[in-house]
Amino acid sequence: MFDFNAPADGDKNTLYADLLSAAEAVTEGEPDAIANMANVAALIWQFLPDLNWSGFYRMVEGELILGPFQGKPACIRIPLGRGVCGTAAASGHTQLVKDVHAFPGHIACDAASASEIVVPVKVDGRVVAVLDLDSPLAARFDAADQQGLEMLIARIGSRLA
Ligand code: SME
Repeated sequence: MFDFNAPADGDKNTLYADLLSAAEAVTEGEPDAIANMANVAALIWQFLPDLNWSGFYRMVEGELILGPFQGKPACIRIPLGRGVCGTAAASGHTQLVKDVHAFPGHIACDAASASEIVVPVKVDGRVVAVLDLDSPLAARFDAADQQGLEMLIARIGSRLA
């Protein structure tokens, strides 16, 4: 059984350090990428406040397909270059979106979403998935979130493919 506790208070550096430790522990030695995505999506949901969606889209034959997540049911297939996820996958760069309504082509899976961050998961330079977090709060994500999430993916990304 895993019983991780998110820090009750503290800065984002502490929060992301604790999240990284938990994610490394829960994925260690497990070769199944889907199981690892499911547990990492659940950990993010548990650790980070003010989210309404946390999960993965997997790159399958040139398009993004819905993977393990927490939150409401979501769009299943996203073409490369479309929406925030498709833009992150096509460019290979994190998309930090303070106001989703101002992002051209944003795909609204949940009308409650106001801000979003999408981090590509790369293995050997190839995008194999994206991590997508949504929030009902405007400008929920900042540079500290981007840094924490990119570090998380850099460290455990190979366990997600
Ligand atoms: N908003 C995303 C679609 C995925 S959902 O947020 C879960 C996008 O524009 O790509």
